[in-house]
Amino acid sequence: MTITIVGHGYVGLVSACVFADFGNKVWVIGHSPEKLQRLKNGDPIIYEPGLAEMLKKNLKAGRLIFTESYDEAVKESSVVFITVGTPPKKDGSADLIAVFHVAQNIAKNLGDKFTVVSCKSTVPVGTNLDVEKILNKNKSKKATIAVASCPEFLREGSAISDTVTPDRVVIGSNDKKAIEILLELHSTFPGKRVVTNLPSAELIKYASNSMLAVKISFANLISFYCEQTGADVEMVLDAVGMDKRIGRVFMYPGIGYGGSCFPKDVQALTDTGKNLAIDVSMLEAVEKINHHARKLFVDKVLKHVGGKTIAIWGLAFKPDTDDIRFAPSVYIIERLLKEGFSVKAYDAAAMSNVRKIISDPKLTLVDEPYLALAGADALLVLTEWNEFKELNVQNVKKLLNSPMLFDGRNMYDPEKMKTDGFTYFGIGRN
Ligand code: UGA
Repeated sequence: MTITIVGHGYVGLVSACVFADFGNKVWVIGHSPEKLQRLKNGDPIIYEPGLAEMLKKNLKAGRLIFTESYDEAVKESSVVFITVGTPPKKDGSADLIAVFHVAQNIAKNLGDKFTVVSCKSTVPVGTNLDVEKILNKNKSKKATIAVASCPEFLREGSAISDTVTPDRVVIGSNDKKAIEILLELHSTFPGKRVVTNLPSAELIKYASNSMLAVKISFANLISFYCEQTGADVEMVLDAVGMDKRIGRVFMYPGIGYGGSCFPKDVQALTDTGKNLAIDVSMLEAVEKINHHARKLFVDKVLKHVGGKTIAIWGLAFKPDTDDIRFAPSVYIIERLLKEGFSVKAYDAAAMSNVRKIISDPKLTLVDEPYLALAGADALLVLTEWNEFKELNVQNVKKLLNSPMLFDGRNMYDPEKMKTDGFTYFGIGRN
């Protein structure tokens, strides 16, 4: 099949590479000539394990074409996916300007064959119907279209495997032919098929991300109880998760969720709920607890650390990405700098992104984890990169002014840390 993907961020580029890898011809439309040139050269721009190889392979095979122009791409395509950003506005609602702008461009370039237009960007319930109105208003008479919602569930860091082996493929449309075409396009993908109407598909994406955020905030809420009572949050959640109705996955406490999805999607669902006069206090609590988790972590550092130099390992909002959008590390560093600390930090991928937003000279970024430790009064671990899992205890103790470790992701065993001579602070593990 020939398809077009508008946008080449995480969802757009990964989907494009995977669809191309499965034998489809994929046009990718962008608006920055510089970025398009990099993509044509095989540089994926974003950091994602395995993506560069897949991009190069499919460029070479001629199945991936990057362009600024809608003309040829849209005319030739059976399906056009919109995968542009929907960032949060100040009031928490999703900014849909880019989606609607792209819809207009698609409409003006439709050929005379039936085309399915589908938002893969996370968009509030009702957005695809607005897209349909824009398409109908701007298209030529001979063009026939149907809209569909085809949400994507990939995670940064494991985006390719998530896309290649999804748990489910959700297709929402009020048009039978659109559903048939999308089922055919996804026929090579494993996973269950969920064929439904437009609003259900749109809501499935928000409900999924919000449910995952609920699990994380619940784990963090329990960790607050543990901190005050002497209970161990990992033991508590292990036992809770043994109940098959609950499960343990995605219920790990820490310094809270970040990234470009959960913070924005919980806020957008809250906003939609308010517009519908629904009581959204549960979603508001999820966000509040998420913020409280990182605040409490810094409070603990301020209470216990004697000196004024801090070492940080991990800046990305999660391992295997360079993304720092809504990352707890940004809040933590900014607060420490405000409190007069000097910070020396290391991350395997995200340092240049942090430097773009924090220019304070009291933040030093170093090329190796152990370089951050010399002369620091405590080590804070904020992202669970694999390279931090095995601590060189002797080196860490020798380099730090005092052997104090704040573990924002519960990576280490408190008993072992104690035996190794550390003053150790985990999350909810007294
Ligand atoms: C999330 C969803 O997991 C994807 O299914 C979805 O497609 C994506 O958003 C999206 O909407 O595009 P992502 O944000 O890439 O994916 O990363 P996650 O692995 O979900 O982690 C999000 C945050 O939650 C990270 O900061 C992570 O550290 C935190 N987290 C995760 C916890 O604090 N505890 C956990 O148990 C799990």
